[in-house]
Amino acid sequence: MSFWKPGTERPQGRVVDDEEGGVLFLSGSHSSSSSSYGYASIEKQRQRLPVYKYRTAILYLVETHATTIVVGETGSGKTTQIPQYLKEAGWAAGGRLIACTQPRRLAVQTVASRVAEEMGVKLGDEVGYTIRFEDVTKPDVTVLKFLTDGVLLREMMDDPLLTKYSVIMVDEAHERSISTDILLGLLKKIQRRRPELRLIISSATIEAKSMSDFFRMRKKRREPENEEHGLEVEPAILSVEGRGFNVQINYAEEPVPDYVQAAVSTVLLIHEREPTGDVLLFLTGQDDIDAAVQLLSDEVQTNGKQSSGLIVLPLYSGLSRAEQELVFSPTPRGKRKVVISTNIAETSLTLEGVVYVVDSGFSKQRFYNPISDIENLVVAPISKASARQRAGRAGRVRPGKCYRLYTEEYFLKHMSNEGIPEIQRSNMVSCVIQLKALGIDNILGFDWPASPSPEAMIRALEILYSLGVLDDDAKLTSPTGFQVAEIPLDPMVSKMIIASSELGCSQEIITIAAVLSVQSIWISGRGMQKESDEAKLRFAAAEGDHVTFLNIYKGFHQSGKSSQWCHKNYINYHAMRKVLEVRDQLKRIAQRIGLVLKSCDGDMQAVRKAVCAGFFANACHLEAYSHNGMYKTLRGSQEVYIHPSSVLFRVNPKWVIYNSLVSTDRQYMRNVITIDPSWLLEAAPHFYQLLKPDSLH
Ligand code: CDP
Ligand code: MG
Repeated sequence: MSFWKPGTERPQGRVVDDEEGGVLFLSGSHSSSSSSYGYASIEKQRQRLPVYKYRTAILYLVETHATTIVVGETGSGKTTQIPQYLKEAGWAAGGRLIACTQPRRLAVQTVASRVAEEMGVKLGDEVGYTIRFEDVTKPDVTVLKFLTDGVLLREMMDDPLLTKYSVIMVDEAHERSISTDILLGLLKKIQRRRPELRLIISSATIEAKSMSDFFRMRKKRREPENEEHGLEVEPAILSVEGRGFNVQINYAEEPVPDYVQAAVSTVLLIHEREPTGDVLLFLTGQDDIDAAVQLLSDEVQTNGKQSSGLIVLPLYSGLSRAEQELVFSPTPRGKRKVVISTNIAETSLTLEGVVYVVDSGFSKQRFYNPISDIENLVVAPISKASARQRAGRAGRVRPGKCYRLYTEEYFLKHMSNEGIPEIQRSNMVSCVIQLKALGIDNILGFDWPASPSPEAMIRALEILYSLGVLDDDAKLTSPTGFQVAEIPLDPMVSKMIIASSELGCSQEIITIAAVLSVQSIWISGRGMQKESDEAKLRFAAAEGDHVTFLNIYKGFHQSGKSSQWCHKNYINYHAMRKVLEVRDQLKRIAQRIGLVLKSCDGDMQAVRKAVCAGFFANACHLEAYSHNGMYKTLRGSQEVYIHPSSVLFRVNPKWVIYNSLVSTDRQYMRNVITIDPSWLLEAAPHFYQLLKPDSLH
């Protein structure tokens, strides 16, 4: 393959610093018989996992230490096995629960279903899971509960000390998601009040020492509670050794201009030239994954012979249960599975049978700039640590190969060593309101595993004040602040819902909020653009995307919620079912917090005003002499454009509000609605106090 140049680096096994006292270091090796997976009984499979050798050690450490840190390579069995060991050892006795958190919803679902299968129980009984808007647990029956770290944070609002849990395993801690970091800070506080609570922090590549330092602080402060319980206050660190097989790394000889196209060509080359073994391709999100699936499927159809035997499957959050199962089911003999995934398959999920990894070098990452007050999702280069993790996925069952769609020079000279914790590149609005709702007033003084920037914090306080969520003393307002905190959505969406109750359009706004909470209700993919654009026109509303969603929702209802209707209109049926579910739950939450459920019967001005009440901070106006549709944000004067997927693309009304920004070559506004600028001063006089009324024309 002349395009490819072999590299020198091989992914390394995990090494844990064992200089400090109180650190336990054990070693072992990966069972080489794991390639005969699939033929062994479930019990045998469990015993072959590297973590099995540490079962007694883990249980001993959890018994004797308040906090245990477990580091082990992806696929060693941390997530699926440790919660089961804890249950077998009696940690779920007496009505107590064992929790295992994950940053990603899809990981929660698939891991819970695997564990239920291993235990031979029905998912939702002894083993259950909870993600936002989906609770598959049974009170008094479920003892092992998988949940997102965000859901566990929400549970603290009702039960601040998380009293029903005996052990909480915070998994995938190396991902440093914003919720994981907040959770770690809060769990540290809880441990002081509930010394009997055990924490397990587990991850693939954690800098175990910094985590351990974070949880060790208690000793310095001489807090003796745990000693009364006979517990070690020093966190224990356990390293599960179990190195994968060698992976040969190949680099692109030249930078690639289009990574989707390059990835597809690489997969086809692998299929043509390499022996059997599945391929795992890392792209960034639903758009480019769907595009690659489409390109490969076209190839299979048109070029039958060479590409026969390829089974092409996408993997991203929002897939239906059936689609998830396909990804995890064994590859039929003589076939080759190609799984095209977001970075969820980097460490959260293990796919058996992968021998070839194709790494685009990118992932979607959140970036927030507190100066311009703009947060967007950017396709950005991954870190070296991520690249090594991705490559490691190829060495699970036998020696494998990794194809990096970037040059070795780029890897060595330009990729950062580690990613930046999400808390340092996020808008802090949701985080601040959650901490406030938990009664934590001194947010700047909160004990963070990594401190957020003070500018981001100040911006968050300012916007929450403008939303009427915080008062002059930065305390939650009553009822608005408490209501906003109760709704498990972005505070701007929650505020929009609360405002809709007063404006008499809550039925419509709840539908809109439900649609905004699913990734996309459109079926997309290269080659379908024209048809899907035409379908969109059938529902397009002059007011913008939010009102268009209402038209679609109405059409879906009138069709009797038909899947054929969705298919005909290029609408994702599965996403629409999800919208119905979320809407139902939002309705219940709205009723619980005392909102009035009412329809405005076609008065779209009320709907637009409600959107404005939540999203006033995202107001933009069209540049007077712009011929290319350039808008400027009202607050930060940032240049933005309407996204081509919006029904207002090329319509370019003068005043708009957007729901979110995506950044590619430009900053694009997604989900846009027209407004009357005078509503901005009404909705947020403080926020827009510096704007002269005569500039709002
Ligand atoms: O958490 P960690 O990465 O250490 O490993 P795990 O997720 O507990 O996976 C242990 C084993 O279970 C691996 O061999 C996976 O392939 C298998 N597994 C599976 O077959 N299906 C799932 N849905 C999850 C895990
Ligand atoms: Mg895991």
